[in-house]
Amino acid sequence: MKVSKIIWDSPVQYLRSKRPDFPIAFFSPQTLQNKVQEFTHHFPGLVTYALKANPDSAVLSNLIAAGIDSFDVASPPEMDQVRRLAPKAVLHYNNPVRSNLEIAHAVKMNVASYSVDSNSELEKLAAQVPIQNTEIAVRFKLPVKGAAYDFGSKFGADPKEAISLLSKVKSLGYTPALTFHPGTQCTQPGVWRTYIIAAAKIATDAGVTIARLNVGGGFPSHRIAKEYPHLRDKFEEIAPATALAFGENPPELVCEPGRAIVADAYCLATRVKAIRDDNAVFLNDGIYGGLSECLLIGPLDRLEVFSSSGKNRTGALHPRTVFGPTCDSVDKLNDTQLLPDDLTEEDYVIFHGLGAYSTSLTTRFNGYGVNTIQNVMDLSDNIKV
Ligand SMILES: Cc1ncc(COP(=O)(O)O)c(C=O)c1O
Repeated sequence: MKVSKIIWDSPVQYLRSKRPDFPIAFFSPQTLQNKVQEFTHHFPGLVTYALKANPDSAVLSNLIAAGIDSFDVASPPEMDQVRRLAPKAVLHYNNPVRSNLEIAHAVKMNVASYSVDSNSELEKLAAQVPIQNTEIAVRFKLPVKGAAYDFGSKFGADPKEAISLLSKVKSLGYTPALTFHPGTQCTQPGVWRTYIIAAAKIATDAGVTIARLNVGGGFPSHRIAKEYPHLRDKFEEIAPATALAFGENPPELVCEPGRAIVADAYCLATRVKAIRDDNAVFLNDGIYGGLSECLLIGPLDRLEVFSSSGKNRTGALHPRTVFGPTCDSVDKLNDTQLLPDDLTEEDYVIFHGLGAYSTSLTTRFNGYGVNTIQNVMDLSDNIKV
């Protein structure tokens, strides 16, 4: 990914001046830092960052500058990446399935915390990971809805298995902890409370006092204009629920957001390649690029349209079919995307809130894909809600 050192006022200033014919991500370090502060000032525990959401080096450097010193890493390359920029950072290796060679790498990197959801994986860890100063968190799942997509079909022990895993972690001598992930873009109120109550019951039934409870990622970003994610409502649900469920000896809390920290610090500018006879719109980025989440969790409506000269298109909104640029019919964003009726070819369509699972999932399929990031002072939009 090419990251420019110049700081533009806004995406439109850059687009008007350069008129690029390729998709571009715009990054606002200030927006990122503000979001970090929202977490560090209001979340009632340790804030770590899930690197997978966006491992761009500009993001990492800004997180470190903002005081983040603990990271959730999913693989050895992610560990190496963090260590290159922050040699003393604390690593939490919370991908619950690992090869023996990956575990050996984690031991070499002095990983502080691991998660497990199966006995076979716990035994693999126990064969290599030193006991002293190492936390093992049992990841459990509940059949709770509320996220844009949930991870329960792949990861997490059910509460009964979690009880037995937690007892085993304790008897092996590791520092016992629990963790869950409610699924990404979790907007439903009460979900964290439900998980925290279940965590307390698992700990009680296992007869184990847990040192920490990791309440995951899953915190929402601003994807739909009318649905502003009020993170503080979630934070305010977490501390009292923990106090109530665990009583006198509550665990320390940890969170590991990816999306909620980084999504709103980026927007993605695409260009209208073509408007076909049937009125379908073809953009120069799509499902195989920075917009892959449209397929998984649906379209977002925080978008603005500008002409090449930077004029805001304000025509009446009409539903259009929108495709990405590749020769693959899966590369379709939406059948009913609202776009202004004065839209023309070579206009720019800017998607806001696209910093998570966007540049990190981009492919070069058909020669397309975002590979340029420009820094901007301001990402504010004029979207009416
Ligand atoms: C273990 C773990 N923690 C944290 C995250 C970050 O989730 P989110 O981006 O929804 O905050 C993920 C996402 O896949 C994850 O697997």
